Amino acid sequence: MKRSAVYPGSFDPITYGHIDLVKRALKIFDDLTIAVLVNPKKKPLFSLEERMEIIKEVFKDEERVHVDAFEGLLIDYLKKKKMNIVIRGLRAVSDFELEFQMALINRKLSPEFETFFMVPGLNYTFLNSSVIKEIYSFGGRAPDLVPPIVEKYLIERFKK
Ligand code: PNS
Repeated sequence: MKRSAVYPGSFDPITYGHIDLVKRALKIFDDLTIAVLVNPKKKPLFSLEERMEIIKEVFKDEERVHVDAFEGLLIDYLKKKKMNIVIRGLRAVSDFELEFQMALINRKLSPEFETFFMVPGLNYTFLNSSVIKEIYSFGGRAPDLVPPIVEKYLIERFKK
């Protein structure tokens, strides 16, 4: 039986930390759907279309990675897709509380829901999309932390 998982998130934008996690997950799962959250309450830096386009470009040579979008509850998306495993990254203890709560709430809402926690490489434990946006918004650069296509989008977005 094919082992499939969903990796949900905002990915605003995707970083090498997320990419590291996807590569690790592909050693365990046969295919992975990166599900980009549409959150009407949040104003992302990049539109849903941009975030998905970036991710598709990053994984264009990896046929086991699919890119999709979801709105509303994650468990409803999973039910629709007939999947039940979600990948989430744990970088540090500070991630744990929220992730633990989400895992348990999701399981409460849908008993077959499983969260698969993975730890990214040490180089990325301090990394998240917000610090990347902060750096580029002030004209800084961090090419070791985001792929070239993300850099290109960030530079363009913050161009004066
Ligand atoms: O990349 P993020 O922002 O940390 O991802 C968070 C995400 C998308 C996994 C989470 O916010 C989510 O699942 N949102 C959908 C709404 C939902 O299902 N909420 C109930 C669980 S708390």
